[in-house]
Amino acid sequence: MTVDDVRRPTRRDLARRFSHGEREFPTSPLYQRLAGIVAADDRLLAVAEHCRAGQQPTNLLFAAVHFLLLSETGTPAPLAGWYRSLGGTRDPGDPALTREFTDFCRATEAELIALVTTRLVQTNVVKRSAALRIGLAAIDEPGPVTLLEVGASGGIHLAFDAYRCRIGDTEVGPAGSPVRIETRWRSSRPVPTRIPEIGDRLGVDLHPIDLTDPTERRWLRALVWPENLPQYELLRAATELVAARRPRILAGDAVTALPRLDADLPTDRPLVVWHAATRVHVPEERRAAFDAAIGALGRRRRLYTVSLETPDDTTEWYERYGISYALQVRAGAGPARRLAAADGHLTWIEPLPA
Ligand SMILES: C[S@@+](CC[C@H](N)C(=O)[O-])C[C@H]1O[C@@H](n2cnc3c(N)ncnc32)[C@H](O)[C@@H]1O
Repeated sequence: MTVDDVRRPTRRDLARRFSHGEREFPTSPLYQRLAGIVAADDRLLAVAEHCRAGQQPTNLLFAAVHFLLLSETGTPAPLAGWYRSLGGTRDPGDPALTREFTDFCRATEAELIALVTTRLVQTNVVKRSAALRIGLAAIDEPGPVTLLEVGASGGIHLAFDAYRCRIGDTEVGPAGSPVRIETRWRSSRPVPTRIPEIGDRLGVDLHPIDLTDPTERRWLRALVWPENLPQYELLRAATELVAARRPRILAGDAVTALPRLDADLPTDRPLVVWHAATRVHVPEERRAAFDAAIGALGRRRRLYTVSLETPDDTTEWYERYGISYALQVRAGAGPARRLAAADGHLTWIEPLPA
């Protein structure tokens, strides 16, 4: 099955999706309000309908609007007055927002359609590097290991050990790093800190983001919810650091790119594949092929997979941990071991009972 065969959401699916703004954007009152506006507007839903299969239409449409606002020169559109990222201070509850948002979207409809048709949800969340550390600490190998990130976006996590990372009261990483991560550790257990030595590092992505390109950087910025200024500041600092390193990220769909990459990866040392918030963007019908492509890399070397993704059994999981990701580690084709729950922005991480 190719990506083109995947079922696309209908207008009704989209209306339903946009009507759950509180769930989708728990820390963005602006996007919660905009989601409700889109859910009730057939012409806006028609724009969202152009999103590529598997992509989250909510995040993609709002990132496209944000991108256009961030690109403006001259007098800003009145809509910018609601975006904290642009210095706006207006209240999302203000009724005028409906008119300003729909006017802006009608005036830029062709550009919005072009953006949602071609762009992807590629949010690089720097703090997820803390989860990668916890996952690596569960791997009993001295290293060096090869680190391969699937869905690397700009490659921010490939430099995870260049960041100062405070998890609960434990601090690791270079003390003088310009990138400083903090995350809450919801446990009295000690934070594991010993990780294998990292050898080569590389990524694979449908569309690698070139962090030296101002337009690509703006797209990454646009993906950060407007109120989340600390997340953006962290991204800016990490972008500077990573752009200078020019991480190696191959372009391609993991399902077809990983078998090609197999021959180039060392066989005399273990491979750690890391994927975060990536499998969730793979259309459901292709997830088994995605998992199999990663698993096949274990035929010629020892393989560990560390992932931070939406669990398949969401209902029970969400009841227990709220809307959150599961951090898992898997050795070869063995069973996945769940290590922790964490919220998508890694504001907290909670280790699970062993
Ligand atoms: C939401 S971003 C997450 C980026 C990064 N892992 C993080 O957590 O900060 C998901 C990334 O996965 C990539 N992606 C989605 N499906 C993919 C696939 N089948 N193969 C390779 N990359 C994929 C997207 O292009 C995007 O850059």
